[in-house]
Amino acid sequence: MVWDVETIKRDVAAQVDAAATLDVLDAVRVKFLGKKGVVQEMYAALPAAAPADKKTLGQQANAVKVFVEELMAGRKAILSLQAKGAEAIDVTLPGVAREPGTRHLINQTLEEICDVFERMGFVIQRGPEIETEFHNFTALNIPLDHPSRDAFDTFYLDQNDPDAAGRYLLLRSHTSPGQMRVMRKHKPPLAVIIPGKVYRPDAVDASHSFMFHQIEGLLIDKNVTFADLKGLLTAFCRKFFGEDVKMRFRPHFFPFTEPSAEVDIQSDIFKGKSGKWLEILGCGMVHPKVFEHAGYPSGEYTGLAFGLGVERIAMLKHGIGDIRTFTENDLRFLKQF
Ligand code: PHE
Repeated sequence: MVWDVETIKRDVAAQVDAAATLDVLDAVRVKFLGKKGVVQEMYAALPAAAPADKKTLGQQANAVKVFVEELMAGRKAILSLQAKGAEAIDVTLPGVAREPGTRHLINQTLEEICDVFERMGFVIQRGPEIETEFHNFTALNIPLDHPSRDAFDTFYLDQNDPDAAGRYLLLRSHTSPGQMRVMRKHKPPLAVIIPGKVYRPDAVDASHSFMFHQIEGLLIDKNVTFADLKGLLTAFCRKFFGEDVKMRFRPHFFPFTEPSAEVDIQSDIFKGKSGKWLEILGCGMVHPKVFEHAGYPSGEYTGLAFGLGVERIAMLKHGIGDIRTFTENDLRFLKQF
């Protein structure tokens, strides 16, 4: 004699499936696995069975036991989850809304500045953030041993410059290398702005950061003068900060412009320290050496160039006292703009 295992299994499956609560399921467990259950009954019949059937009957009892246990465990998991879910999910609670983000103030300012220059006829160009020493320094009349490299000597990559044996690529320390890239590609007259990130070995404080944004400007034609440079930048500052903006041109030195200047804006964000000026850009007339590196015929063109600091300008315009707030990702700050 052997058991009709298939029928027993079908019977178990039907009852387990039909169990709608954990209590009902437990009653099914007792019925099949309990002391007087079906599986026990199968084991109890073993001693009296014919010796030839014993092995098969034993295997059948084991198989039914495992089958019932597995089915029970599966159904129990489902019923427990349903029981928990009923408590955990309150469908009457309001959902979690994802608010739309806003553009970062730096990007807004960058676009606003570019806008002013685009309306004056400038065209946007981009340069790479990873530069060669040639574009970042040499082409801009900053030779290897020039002391002004110190303030600019920046983050070098562990990667050789494919065009210069033994030299390394670096993160650009200003957007000025973009000047050379544009000049080598296009012939004057040209008027471009080159926005982007730059990197400096500056210790971080309220007005310095090792990474910030600049917008380079370059205008080359015949007979461009320093008066054009002054007029252009004055027009920009009035448009951007308002007609009554207080600005000054302060003589300065850059190896790639001659003469050179820096422009400061008088700011009232440092109230109390009245009369404090904040530098927002460097500028000057393109140096003949730069034209030479660009391959332009000597003496034919003159040009003006400038490099604006975007963070500084955003700080002045919006009364922000600390450059670090731009990168702290505090929504209470970012949402205000
Ligand atoms: N590249 C200079 C700087 O980062 C700024 C500059 C640009 C000066 C163009 C003159 C002309 O400080």
